[in-house]
Amino acid sequence: MLKIAVLVSGGGSNLQAILDSASRGEIINGKVYAVISSREDAYALKRAEAAGVEHIKVISPKDFESRGEFTAKITDTLKSLDIDLVVLAGFMHVLSDDFCREYRNRVMNVHPSLIPAFCGDGYYGLRVHKSVLDYGVKVTGATVHFVNEVTDGGPIILQKSIEVRDGDTPETLQRRVMEECEWVLLPEAVSLFCQGRLEVCGNHVYIK
Ligand code: GAR
Repeated sequence: MLKIAVLVSGGGSNLQAILDSASRGEIINGKVYAVISSREDAYALKRAEAAGVEHIKVISPKDFESRGEFTAKITDTLKSLDIDLVVLAGFMHVLSDDFCREYRNRVMNVHPSLIPAFCGDGYYGLRVHKSVLDYGVKVTGATVHFVNEVTDGGPIILQKSIEVRDGDTPETLQRRVMEECEWVLLPEAVSLFCQGRLEVCGNHVYIK
C-alpha cells in the first residue's frame, strides 16, 4: 500500500474527493496517510479529522524566514513519514527546486484550467476562472500534472474539458470545473499512480 500525503491550503474539496474515492475502495493500492495544511484555519483540516487521517499537520510559511526553509520542513516531514506520493490539492504555494528534484514524478497537482492556458505564476483559484471569462474562450476544464521546477509546467497526467456557458460567473464556472473535472480527475490520477500505471517519458505521461 503506497502512502499518500495531501497538501492543502483551503477548503479541501479535492482532498474530500480523494477521501470519498478511497472510502469507496477506488484508490487501489494507496492510502491517504497524511494531510499537511499551510493554514491552521483551513477547512480541509476538519475534513481530514472527520475521515480519521492518521497524520494531520500544519506547516505555515509564516513560521519560516524563506520559501527554502518552509519547503525543507515539508520535505523533512514527508521523509519522516516515508511518503510515496505527494498530492497538491489547492496548495497555494510554489515549492522549491530542491523539493521538485527530491520528489521528481512523485508530486502531482490539480490546476483548474486546461494547461497550457490560464496557468503559471499568478493563476490560482477564482483568478483562473475570471481570466477564462475575460478572454472569452468557449471551453475550459482542469488538469492533473506532475510538478516540476516550472509553475504548472510538469508532465500532464489527465485533462477534462467542459463548455463555458453564457452567464457564467467565476463562481459558477469554478463549481462546474470542480464537480465535473477536478473531483473526477484527481482521485483517478492518484489511483493510477498507486497502481504503478503512470510512465513518464520526457514531458509525456503514458497510462499503462
Ligand atoms: C481548486 O480549484 C484547485 O484546482 C485550485 O484551488 C482550488 C482549491 O479548492 N488550485 C489552484 O488554483 C492551484 N494553481 P479545494 O481546497 O476545495 O480543493
